[in-house]
Amino acid sequence: MTTDVKNYLKTALLGSFFYVNYKIKLSLQMDSLNSLRYLNKFLYQYRSYLLWGTVFTIISNVFSIAPAPIVRYAFDLIEEAVDLHYLYKGYQNHDNIYALFAQITLFYGALIVAMALLRGVFLFMVRQTIIVMSRLIEYDLKNTIYAQYQNLPLSFYRRNNTGDLMARISEDVGQVRMYLGPAIMYSINLVTLSVMIIAFMFMIDTTLAFYTILPLPFLSISIYYVSNWINKQSTELQKQLSGLSTYTQEAFSGVRVVKAFSREDDSIRRFAETSEKYRKHAIRLSYIEALFYPLIILLVGLSSTLIIYIGGIEVMKGKITNGVIAEFVIYSNMLVWPVTAIGWVMSLAQRAAASQTRINEFLEVKNEIVSTKNTEREIVGKIAFHDVALTYPDTGVQALQNISFEVQAGETLAILGTTGSGKSTIANLIPRMYDVTAGKILIDDIPIEEYAIGSLRSQISVVPQDVFLFSESIRNNIKFGLEDCTEEQLIQAVKDADLYHNVMDFPEKLETLIGERGITLSGGQKQRASIARAIIRNPKILILDDSLSAVDTKTEHAILNNLERIMHNRTSIIISHRVSSVKLANKILVLDEGHLVEQGTHESLMQNNGLYKELYEKQLQTEGEEVG
Ligand SMILES: Nc1ncnc2c1ncn2[C@@H]1O[C@H](COP(=O)(O)OP(=O)(O)OP(=O)(O)O)[C@@H](O)[C@H]1O
Ligand SMILES: [Mg+2]
Repeated sequence: MTTDVKNYLKTALLGSFFYVNYKIKLSLQMDSLNSLRYLNKFLYQYRSYLLWGTVFTIISNVFSIAPAPIVRYAFDLIEEAVDLHYLYKGYQNHDNIYALFAQITLFYGALIVAMALLRGVFLFMVRQTIIVMSRLIEYDLKNTIYAQYQNLPLSFYRRNNTGDLMARISEDVGQVRMYLGPAIMYSINLVTLSVMIIAFMFMIDTTLAFYTILPLPFLSISIYYVSNWINKQSTELQKQLSGLSTYTQEAFSGVRVVKAFSREDDSIRRFAETSEKYRKHAIRLSYIEALFYPLIILLVGLSSTLIIYIGGIEVMKGKITNGVIAEFVIYSNMLVWPVTAIGWVMSLAQRAAASQTRINEFLEVKNEIVSTKNTEREIVGKIAFHDVALTYPDTGVQALQNISFEVQAGETLAILGTTGSGKSTIANLIPRMYDVTAGKILIDDIPIEEYAIGSLRSQISVVPQDVFLFSESIRNNIKFGLEDCTEEQLIQAVKDADLYHNVMDFPEKLETLIGERGITLSGGQKQRASIARAIIRNPKILILDDSLSAVDTKTEHAILNNLERIMHNRTSIIISHRVSSVKLANKILVLDEGHLVEQGTHESLMQNNGLYKELYEKQLQTEGEEVG
């Protein structure tokens, strides 16, 4: 071939290479790859794994390249042997020569097997370092994300749904691990192996080296596009799958509603529809995947043919021996896998970057609820609100306006009001689940922002309106991580919450499992278990958010009496719809649509002739009706 043609080919090849490179960079959206920078600190932390991984990769590559020249020697040797064999025909040495060559060939064969074994050993070590590193980072990353989740305020959980939180800690971390493990491993392998092979090939024969490399960029680019497409499709598939499982999960947890409204057929139909979409997609994907591998094999075959053709010409010119052709075919086959991996690695990196961007988004969320002075002190229990207003940040709902009141330590405050009037919002503000939009909250005359969050919350027990119990034993639900509490204290709390007799009726008493794996508690039992959980902690401030709504008036009375004894000298806040629960409080707040419309004792409010009296009389009437 003339030098002109060669030069032309080289320029064309280089040009197209840069063009494609540019295109790939564009489609990779380099800024999204920046998100992977976050992982560098982990890579640095585990740098010894990375370093040893690289060393082992190089060693294993030496052993995988070494057989190629051996094959060349063996090839050339056999050729010579055959010639010699014919030359010595009829001589005495004829048979000896044959035996000698057979022995040498066998030796080469054994050498190649030994190399393969050694290579295997080092490949094992490569995986033991780099893949192990990726698992370690995965572990750290999951813990980091989970710790961040635990740190973030309630408002964060309002903004993001559970599925999303779960996906980031499981699937997204998984994607990132694929980048840290396989992608990095194959990249190191690609770089070391191709540098070694290409250098080797150019040392042996430039022309043949050139033609061996020629098809590789095309191979890698086409694989990049195909595997990108496959990845996109499988992400889509993943989404459909998670849609399917969300749907199924809801159908299971809402099974009572489904059955009560006899919507089973409808539920089955919707499942089948979603499932059908998934099936179609999955089959189409496997069709493309099935086409993909034969295509690579075809390309490899074509490139081998090219080597043999060009090599043949070189042999005829007397530039190289037959053995070199065999050697180069081996090289080209060896290069194919890492080159195939480029495309794959790039799309892995891209997916990991997208996942890491999502993870970073959550990691970067700052918890605005932080303490200004980290004051840790024992709370006595005085609470004061000065002109407090709260607008929920996401919805813009003005839940509270101009709320001012004071409770002395040891007093009982009751909050009464219609639904949606802002009662639970007040309960949220005291343990600082949200920060006020305007005004001030003081506890023991110290602004609430100055308290260390952990110290503040550990001295306040809230029984939330929507009771949540874990799928655990009753004991664990009540103790809920409390270490230093005696059996007597536990029993006492259960008794004070008026749950003792119920629990003793259960076959396994306090060890009875509740929730998904165990028995279902009645609404009132749940509320009382939740109250026991709150009072066992000996809080300085106890908040019951509508926690007696599901118990009858007799039980309500019993619990309130017990509370009076337990909360002696401490502050209790009782939120309710029912006048009967609030009557005995030292102070009663009456809320209406976020405004504090009345406050005072039962007697003073009755004299006021306001909303309180109206509610009281209405409820007295209905109670009378119920009794009568
Ligand atoms: N986390 C939140 N984010 C946005 N808006 C909220 C949030 N919680 C409550 N709201 C809104 O704030 C208002 C007051 O709600 P709140 O829960 O305090 O009422 P409530 O008096 O406890 O009512 P109920 O007696 O029904 O429990 C309502 O309009 C409600 O929709
Ligand atoms: Mg409420």
